[in-house]
Amino acid sequence: MSEPDAVLDLAVRLARAAGQLQRERYETRFEIRVKSTPINLVTEVDHACEKLIVEGIAAQRPDDAIEAEEGSGGGREDAAWRWVIDPLDGTTNYAHGYPRFCVSIGVEHRGIRSVAAVYDPLLDELYTAVRGAGAWLGRRRLRVSQTRGLAEALVATGFAYDVRRSQDDNLDHFAALVKRARGVRRDGSAALDLCYVAAGRFDGFWELKLQPWDVAAGLLLVEEAGGCTSDLRGGPAPRSGRECLASNALLHDELVAALSG
Ligand code: IPD
Ligand code: CA
Ligand code: CA
Repeated sequence: MSEPDAVLDLAVRLARAAGQLQRERYETRFEIRVKSTPINLVTEVDHACEKLIVEGIAAQRPDDAIEAEEGSGGGREDAAWRWVIDPLDGTTNYAHGYPRFCVSIGVEHRGIRSVAAVYDPLLDELYTAVRGAGAWLGRRRLRVSQTRGLAEALVATGFAYDVRRSQDDNLDHFAALVKRARGVRRDGSAALDLCYVAAGRFDGFWELKLQPWDVAAGLLLVEEAGGCTSDLRGGPAPRSGRECLASNALLHDELVAALSG
């Protein structure tokens, strides 16, 4: 097995194991706390999933670096492989019993997005990609949609946890797209939103102020499904997640224009 395939194999096993934990604890009682703002939640399930994933990587690949949302990662800055993990993307949904959340694991090799595994435990949908080998939903190869015009497009977005106090709140972009697209969704899991672009369910997705773990896997899935990723002006998509635009490629210029005013 090639090294990227071995990394994918481990990522899939850990994503499935964390997803099983999410399924078991879904709609049970669990501790919920707030983080940076009153609307930014974390549950004990987020922490349990992160522990399972981080310990699983450390046991199998001790030389790899790990960047995980709840802070339990580590490793050398110059490690060849870097795991970027959102143990539970869609925590607000999870805390409210709204059935849309996932585990997202992206892995970079020498700074290049190389491997992705995203698992939706309620639908039992596993999205995977290895750079150069396509994007997959289970055994089905994924292709982005063929939608050519924004007026026929279903797009998605989200809002950052500082939305109550920030002027840079994405509401101007949201208003513009509500008027131009066929529909706009805000469904609370950026990683799954990107998977849905890869799967042709959404024609496009944009969001501001995301984090590396929100986009690490999803951007590779979109690219491997034939889509286009960028910042909001059409430049390279930053690994930071600070700006994220993904589309079926056919719509990309129209989306850049609509988001620029
Ligand atoms: C959040 C979700 C949400 C997005 C937020 C993210 P979390 O991640 O992806 O859709 O709008 O910006 O922070 O906190 O549930 O892991
Ligand atoms: Ca997230
Ligand atoms: Ca999370």
